[in-house]
Amino acid sequence: MSDSKSQGGDQWGSRIGVILAVAGSAVGLGNFLRFPGQAAQNGGGAFMLPYFVSLLILGIPLCWAEWTMGRYGGTKGFNSAPGIFQTLWKNPLAKYLGSIALLIPLVIYMYYVVIEAWCLGYAFNYLTGDLMLGENSKEYSNFFDKFVGASADGALFSEGGSNLLVFLIFTFVFNFILIYRGISKGIESFCKIAMPIMVICALCVLARVLTLGSEKVSAGLGAMWNPNTDYLMQPKTWLAASGQIFFSLSVGFGVIINYASYLKKDDDIALSGLSASSMNEFFEVCLGGLITLPAAFIFLGAAATEQGTFGLGFNALPNVFAVMPGGQFFGFLWFFMLFIAAITSSLSMLQPVIAFFEEGLGLKRHASAALLGLVSAMGSGFVVYFSKGMVALDTFDFWVGTMFIFILAMCQAVIYGWIFGIDRGHEELHRGANIRVPWFVQLMLKYVTPGFLFAIFIGICITQGP
Ligand code: PHE
Repeated sequence: MSDSKSQGGDQWGSRIGVILAVAGSAVGLGNFLRFPGQAAQNGGGAFMLPYFVSLLILGIPLCWAEWTMGRYGGTKGFNSAPGIFQTLWKNPLAKYLGSIALLIPLVIYMYYVVIEAWCLGYAFNYLTGDLMLGENSKEYSNFFDKFVGASADGALFSEGGSNLLVFLIFTFVFNFILIYRGISKGIESFCKIAMPIMVICALCVLARVLTLGSEKVSAGLGAMWNPNTDYLMQPKTWLAASGQIFFSLSVGFGVIINYASYLKKDDDIALSGLSASSMNEFFEVCLGGLITLPAAFIFLGAAATEQGTFGLGFNALPNVFAVMPGGQFFGFLWFFMLFIAAITSSLSMLQPVIAFFEEGLGLKRHASAALLGLVSAMGSGFVVYFSKGMVALDTFDFWVGTMFIFILAMCQAVIYGWIFGIDRGHEELHRGANIRVPWFVQLMLKYVTPGFLFAIFIGICITQGP
C-alpha cells in the first residue's frame, strides 16, 4: 500500500485485505444459489453467452468506474455515496441519487441476513444430525417450512421455526460486532480468514460431488450446462444474466464505491478491481456452477431444475446429502460455507449506511451502529413476518435486486462517463495502477454500457412485471 495518506478516518490495512474484502462482498449466496438457479431456468449453457457479454460490457467496466469514483471521493474526505456523487457532480440532485446507493444495500441486507441465518441454522442442524431425515423428500420440505416459519397454518416461529430466532439474533450480532470494529479491524481481518476457509470448504464439497460416479456426474453437469439456444432470443434471459452479473459482482449497489473510498490516493485500483472480480467468477462458475445444480440433479433428476433459487439450496440439496456417503459432514460443510460467504457480503451492505450516518448525520460510530441495528432489525422482522415462506423474498429480489440496480447503474455510468468524464476517469483509474486498462473500456463506459442498460431496461418494461 502507498504511504501517501490523503484522508483521515478508517482505512484498509493492506492491498490483499481490500481485494479479499471486495471479493468477500461479491462471493455470496448469489454465487452458490442464485447463479445455478438462474442458469438452469434460462437455458443452461446458453445462459453463459448473455452472462459473459454482461460481464464484459457491464460488470467489469462499471466495477472499475465504482473503484475509481470511490477512491476519488475518499480522497476528498467522503465515504458515503451521497457525498461522493456530490464531489463528482456539483448538482443538488447528486446527493439524492447517491442516497439510492444507501437504500438498495440496506433493503437487500434486510432479507439477505434472514437467508444467512437459515444457512447457519442448517449448518447447526447438520452438526447435530437433525437434518439427516432419510430419503423421503417431503421430510425436507416440511423441515424447511417449519424452520423458516412458513408452516401451512401460517404460524410464525412455530415449533422448529422458533429456532430461527436464535440464529437470526446470532447472525445480527455477529454482523454488528464486525461492522462496529471498523474497516481494517473488523471487515478486513474477518475476510482475510473467511475467504480461505470458504475456498477449502467449497473445494471439499466439489471433490465429493465430482467423485459420485462418472455417469451420474456427467448427467448432472449436462443438466446445468447443456445449452438451450431458444432462450437467447428472449429479453428475459438477457435481463436475468445482467441482473446476475450485478448481484454477483456487487456492482451497481454502491458497496464498491464505499469500500474503495477507504483506499489511499495512490493505491492501485485497476488490478485490485480485476482481481476481486476474477475471484468472484471463479467462485461462481467453477464452484457454484459445478456443485449446486449438478449435485441436485444427480439425486433428484429433472425435478432439480424446477426448484427456485431457495428451493434448490434448502430443499433439494438436503436430499442429496441424505444419500451421499459422508452426507452429514458435507451438509455441514456446505451450509457453513454458505453462512461465511453470506456474512462477508452482508457486511458490505451495512458499511455504506453506517458511513452515511457518521458522515451525513454527524453521529459517532457506536450511535451509528445502534441506529443501523434498530433500522435493519425492524426491516428484517418485517421481512420475516410478511414473507411466510419465499414469495416476498422473490418479489424483493426482483424489485430491489434487479430493477433498482439498473437505475443506479445507469446513474453511475452517466455520472462517470458524461459528467466526471472519461479522460479524468482514465487518468484517475491509472494513478498507482499496476496494469494498464485499454482506452476502449472508457469509450465503452461512456456509450456502450449505458446503451446496453437502456436496451435491457426497455426490455423489462415491455415484457414483464415481477
Ligand atoms: N454479491 C453478493 C452475492 O453474490 C450479494 C451482494 C449484493 C453483496 C449486493 C453486496 C451487495 O451474494
